[in-house]
Amino acid sequence: MQSIPATLHQRILDHLADAVLLFGLDHKLRYTNIAGEMLFALSSRQLLGLHVHELFSDGAVERDMGGALQSGASITQHNVELRRPKPAVTVNLTIVPFFDHDRADGVLLYVQQVDRQLRISMEEQLLAQQNAARMVLRGLAHEVKNPLGGLRGAAQLLERELHDAELKEYTRIIMEESDRLQSLVDRMLGPNKPPRKSPLNIHKVLERVRQLVQVEAPSGVVIQRDYDPSIPDLYGDADQLIQAILNIVRNAAQAVGERGHITLRSRIHRQVTIGHQRNRLAVKVDVIDDGPGIPPELLNQVFYPMVTGRAEGTGLGLSIAQSLINRHGGLVECSSEPGRTVFSVFLPLESEHE
Ligand SMILES: Nc1ncnc2c1ncn2[C@@H]1O[C@H](COP(=O)(O)OP(=O)(O)OP(=O)(O)O)[C@@H](O)[C@H]1O
Ligand SMILES: [Mg+2]
Repeated sequence: MQSIPATLHQRILDHLADAVLLFGLDHKLRYTNIAGEMLFALSSRQLLGLHVHELFSDGAVERDMGGALQSGASITQHNVELRRPKPAVTVNLTIVPFFDHDRADGVLLYVQQVDRQLRISMEEQLLAQQNAARMVLRGLAHEVKNPLGGLRGAAQLLERELHDAELKEYTRIIMEESDRLQSLVDRMLGPNKPPRKSPLNIHKVLERVRQLVQVEAPSGVVIQRDYDPSIPDLYGDADQLIQAILNIVRNAAQAVGERGHITLRSRIHRQVTIGHQRNRLAVKVDVIDDGPGIPPELLNQVFYPMVTGRAEGTGLGLSIAQSLINRHGGLVECSSEPGRTVFSVFLPLESEHE
């Protein structure tokens, strides 16, 4: 059998979404893959040498490490709490005795984050619901669109027959209101063109959005940039990405009102799961504002169409943004508290099946 080079082993380990940890017989950490570093939010340099009880809250992990070594069999534990980065993170783990030529040499831990699995299925469910809501709305918009055209056409013909300026005022109102309804219906129908993708730099998109919003917003609104210039090009439709991120940044500007700060931040992320798709690399764009935050009763619904907290809002901006980003294989998330609202756009840089 051909042997696999050590660097390939390393790369395989670093591509795993689950953490692989090797402890010595002294129960101190000897090795972690990248997923392990991400799980504990520490670099391997900081992690190596830490004792198992510094990583897991539950003493049963250390006890079962001894048990697994004695029996030579692996042991699985469910819903174990991490001690860091915060106790709320729970994992399932398998403890495997590690032998070097028949001699016990340490213990291998294979760690799966439970919260992450829950999050992925929640995400899928939410996306499906938002899609369904959009479909219903599109159906409705279609039904309204056709008669609307007839209505406007008839008012136009009628206007030509009228000679009384006062009566013409009525036909003008019919036409203006039809136009207003028409543009609402067009927005309800949402983006109708598939993305025309080409390589593009995410910062071109962000800079365009920044300029557009800076012009519209009051002078007390400051838009700050925090870009990672090393992010490579992604494959996308520039106009659609501008539209999506513009909808998000406009909301932030509306939320802060006369004065406030908006930050546009770009970062690269490894091993991001979006829906079912594992992405080796993804861009994360955060739009952060220090406005009053999303009202709690709206927080779980803001991506649904026609959900709005603003008197003059149509509630379509975020629904359209989510749909445009989904078409790029990406996802929009948000978190909000008074003084800090973050909308995060994930866009794959290259996906595994490409
Ligand atoms: N950064 C933010 N801070 C506070 N609330 C927000 C923020 N972004 C969105 N929201 C809330 O979410 C709601 C929905 O936003 P969305 O963009 O979908 O619709 P809209 O802004 O109301 O209308 P439209 O964008 O169609 O003109 C907003 O009305 C607002 O209440
Ligand atoms: Mg909006």
